[in-house]
Amino acid sequence: MLGPQKEAAEQIGISKIIGVATPRVDGPLKTTGSAMYASDFHLPGLVYAWPTTATIASGSVTGIDLSTAKGMPGVLAIYTHENIGPLYRTPPAPVLSLMIDETRPPLEDTTIRYYGQYVAVAVAETMEQARAAAEAVKVTYSKTAHNTDVHLIGSGVNTPKEVTKRGNTTDALKSAAIKHDAIYSTPTETHNPIELHASVASYKDGKFTLYETSQAVGNHRDVLAAVLGAPPDSVQVITRFLGSGFGGKLWPWPHSALAASCSRNLNRPVKLVVSRSMMFQSVGHRPAIDQRIQLAATSTGKLTAIQQDYVNHTSVQDDYDEGCGEATGFIYSCPNVLVTGNLARRNVGTPTSMRGPGAVPGLYALESAMDELALKLEMDPVELRLINEPEMDESTGKPFSSRHLKECLSVGAEKFGWAKRNPTVGSMKNADGLTLGWGMAACSWIATRIDAEASVELRQDGTARIVCGAQDIGGGTYTVIAQMVAHETGVPVRRVEVVLGDSSLPPGPISGGSWATASLTPAVLDAARSAIKAIVLAATKANGSPFKGKQESELEFVDGGVRGKGGDGTTLSFSDVLKLSKAKGVSGSGKSQGVFGDNQSPYSFHSYGAQFAEVTWQPEIARLRVSRIVTVIDAGRMLNPRTAKNQIEGAVVMGVGMAMLEATEYEERSGAPINSSLADYIVAVSADCPQIDVTFLDYPDFKLNSLGARGVGEIGLAGVAAAIANAVQHATGVRARRLPIRIEDLLSAPEPSPSFA
Ligand code: MOS
Repeated sequence: MLGPQKEAAEQIGISKIIGVATPRVDGPLKTTGSAMYASDFHLPGLVYAWPTTATIASGSVTGIDLSTAKGMPGVLAIYTHENIGPLYRTPPAPVLSLMIDETRPPLEDTTIRYYGQYVAVAVAETMEQARAAAEAVKVTYSKTAHNTDVHLIGSGVNTPKEVTKRGNTTDALKSAAIKHDAIYSTPTETHNPIELHASVASYKDGKFTLYETSQAVGNHRDVLAAVLGAPPDSVQVITRFLGSGFGGKLWPWPHSALAASCSRNLNRPVKLVVSRSMMFQSVGHRPAIDQRIQLAATSTGKLTAIQQDYVNHTSVQDDYDEGCGEATGFIYSCPNVLVTGNLARRNVGTPTSMRGPGAVPGLYALESAMDELALKLEMDPVELRLINEPEMDESTGKPFSSRHLKECLSVGAEKFGWAKRNPTVGSMKNADGLTLGWGMAACSWIATRIDAEASVELRQDGTARIVCGAQDIGGGTYTVIAQMVAHETGVPVRRVEVVLGDSSLPPGPISGGSWATASLTPAVLDAARSAIKAIVLAATKANGSPFKGKQESELEFVDGGVRGKGGDGTTLSFSDVLKLSKAKGVSGSGKSQGVFGDNQSPYSFHSYGAQFAEVTWQPEIARLRVSRIVTVIDAGRMLNPRTAKNQIEGAVVMGVGMAMLEATEYEERSGAPINSSLADYIVAVSADCPQIDVTFLDYPDFKLNSLGARGVGEIGLAGVAAAIANAVQHATGVRARRLPIRIEDLLSAPEPSPSFA
């Protein structure tokens, strides 16, 4: 799985621990059921909250009748906008600080802006009692017309915002030899991690302890403090384990403030678990998006213009911008590029980041359009990408820190067998006589580092302990941190204790953006080095130490012990140093400043990949299956190829869902996200999984950090839907410009591209 670069990296001194396929250190905790997820915390005196949700999508509450609900068994309280207590909007803050997508606190007023908005919350001794009471709350409404229309082009609220611009696309499009112009539409997609969103809130002596499903405990603390009107140091947020989140758990949602407020009001710990159905309403989603893509090229396939105009829906209240042009500015060489973005207001809950926000839907559109352009050029689609490879990031003029997209394409083509592709639609058959479609796409995703701190303790018993206020979303952060500490200190991975998921620990990165690993690397290594320094110093001072009286500069720390530089090899383990020093352990702190948003940073940091897809098509029964995906990923050095491969495989399966299955549907009459269950919102399951072949190029990106690691959480999803849509065109002749691709789309004659005259 690892490429030739693995050896090269080892030659430059990366240890035997980094780059080794290490099983998850938290695996046994998870398989034995002892890993504590947020809703697993049962505090003494715990009571349960269940929200009452709006059954209209626009209007206002005219009355709330609590008479029945209040007298029901076990009911302790029912809160509405009249008695929930003080909750505040968070003040506007700089990027990556006080992040929240739905800015309105729950039960703020009587205005209803989306179906499922909280209008009351019942608290009772058991969850069933709370739910029964919440459902017995009688709310009357004054209804106004709602809008959940998925047609977005032309209904943007603002003047389109210029996201990236160079040259003049208008002129280039006018004079081009070959042109392409089409609209690509993607639906609302709802994050469906198996772990439901949950809050267990405890309020005692002026202090909140919040067990949350959070991808960012530090931010969650700051936001909740602001919403509750409490000092940040009176709020502690704990997320030991996450049953994933896919971005839906990055920023706090209103239920968290509801649970905390109920706890404050009642002086009892309160548990609120958001139901699967409510998760389609009030904890974010990837918005519906329309993207118009215009491409122009010379007759030999050199791109001369790329224009991307997107409109995504957002809520009535908040401005969520999907950022579909994320990759457009730098993925290809092109003198004239324009990306514009706009928002269309709809009566929906506020959208949020979903795995690869911006780039994932953006690349579905751009890479579908590139395939259409290749057809017009009668050029192989791989070749079209190869000849438009840029020398540098043309959107910023900066060199790429490390970019191997061409190699992703060539390795992928080789592994997939692309050379055997007959471009004629429907011409290829497999051994069972099924029609084959082969398609491909290139992809990219942001790489960066954000601020991080960590503390490492080396202990007398020979173990190490690392603490950091980061989280493990499920991708393997516990494990790669243990590897980093082991790499630096010589303590075996199984003897490294990793403590994460607590806002009272040194501030760690968010588990988002695929940034956690790259951000943690310098902070964790720095902390380990500072603990090592303390050990070396102790070795020069401890009675009985062979190094007593020596200068620190005369000593070195190798494989968990102190020895003299150029000496006879006498080594004193750190455990012995601590014994002689009569110390249980020493700690070191590490801190690193990120490069995120730093315009002065000299490099353009991104990960790249190539996706190759095979579908099988049986026109007689309109049966389409994704049978095979070959994915080649250039995401820096893989610290742990085992967990990394797992990330890419999971992302590919999510890509199958995006291409073929997933769409949240808003019912016209009520405005409700109507398929709000795992029975009706179809995600890819094992039976939908294609054969997946993952290759990592494994070129270390030492410009990003000393281990050369970028991140793999999101890149595996980018480009997959386009590769599948392109394969579908090759099999069926039908161009899918709307996701998910449905059987009925394949039955109709190919649609001509819309005209914009
Ligand atoms: Mo990811 S959408 O940044 O959790």
